[in-house]
Amino acid sequence: MITSKLPNVGITIFTQMSQLAASSGALNLSQGFPDFDAPQALCDAVGRHIANGHNQYSPMTGLPALRQQVAAKIARSYGVSVNADTEVTITPGATQAIFCAIQAVIHSGDEVIVFDPAYDSYEPSVALAGGRCVHVPLGGKDFAIDFQKLGEALSPRTRMIILNSPHNPSGALISRAELDQLAALIRDRDIYVISDEVYEHLVFDGVAHASVLAHEELYRRAFVVSSFGKTYHVTGWKTGYVVAPPALTEELRKVHQYVSFCGVTPLQYALADFMAEHPEHVEELPGFYQAKRDLFCDLLAPSRFSFTKVTGTYFQLLDYSQIRPDLNDVEMARWMTREHGVAAIPISVFYQNPLQEQRLVRLCFAKREETLRQAAEKLCAI
Ligand SMILES: Cc1ncc(COP(=O)(O)O)c(C=O)c1O
Repeated sequence: MITSKLPNVGITIFTQMSQLAASSGALNLSQGFPDFDAPQALCDAVGRHIANGHNQYSPMTGLPALRQQVAAKIARSYGVSVNADTEVTITPGATQAIFCAIQAVIHSGDEVIVFDPAYDSYEPSVALAGGRCVHVPLGGKDFAIDFQKLGEALSPRTRMIILNSPHNPSGALISRAELDQLAALIRDRDIYVISDEVYEHLVFDGVAHASVLAHEELYRRAFVVSSFGKTYHVTGWKTGYVVAPPALTEELRKVHQYVSFCGVTPLQYALADFMAEHPEHVEELPGFYQAKRDLFCDLLAPSRFSFTKVTGTYFQLLDYSQIRPDLNDVEMARWMTREHGVAAIPISVFYQNPLQEQRLVRLCFAKREETLRQAAEKLCAI
């Protein structure tokens, strides 16, 4: 008999929906990854570095050149200076960074606040550290932090709060004013923050992303996590980074060095080259994805789905209450995939206590124009 350490964890909805999309021959707008290629120069650089013998372990903390590029990008994006040696760590994906940050500071019996709907890796990472997630639902249609509920959820055992902005699955952003409010709420408490900012450069309509990196008070207690996968269209490279003050970075690295030790060497070299040669990639990203969002939403305007264009991420929520109110969102996602050829993600899976009346599915618009046009045609026919 195996006593599972994660008895409630099964195959993720992302795997299930991707499998169903493949077996049904449906367009896969469920899992969040681009169906277009990464920049050619970036791919070429990987081949070059492999051919040049960059195939052995990199430093545990990450390739210095890449850490320096991350620090330079942070300075350009947020006007703050972080130390590439003592504050930046390269990890095999943002998920691993989050896992290591949690293992580094969460002790048995500690409580961690997560806002529902929440990315699915947080809860098992906390459970494996012996902690317990306290779920606080985001409020209303705009998925904003409900500070009343957050205040009520705090206890002497609260050791961490996990933020995610831009937010998966809703696309909502946490504003600078909300960061100020959070900082005031936890000012006199011994609470760490993970700020999951993997979609930091996917923010639209001229809005500026309020990074915890630029919030001096919150940053002192924070691990700020990002993903090269999202920013450079290479989710399969599973390469990310975490930025934290030196004392927190030291603790995080103690865990990271025994989880993976280091990231994949030639990928780090390639990313460092590309970031140095193409700083404009990050500046162009909001416009690039905003055009995809606008195309997809404009094409869906005549459909029976209702929606508000997202301000961040590459996900669009669609409300289907005018179409099949009789189906819950898992049933709806399966029905859309099997009967209408478009796979989506039901958002109830991101909740501890799904809202019974909610009728929302999430679609990923990180797709070629042709894919978006085909998907929209099918969705308009429902
Ligand atoms: C909110 C959020 N955090 C983290 C990740 C994981 O990023 P990575 O692929 O770099 O591990 C994702 C990927 O979908 C995500 O949506």
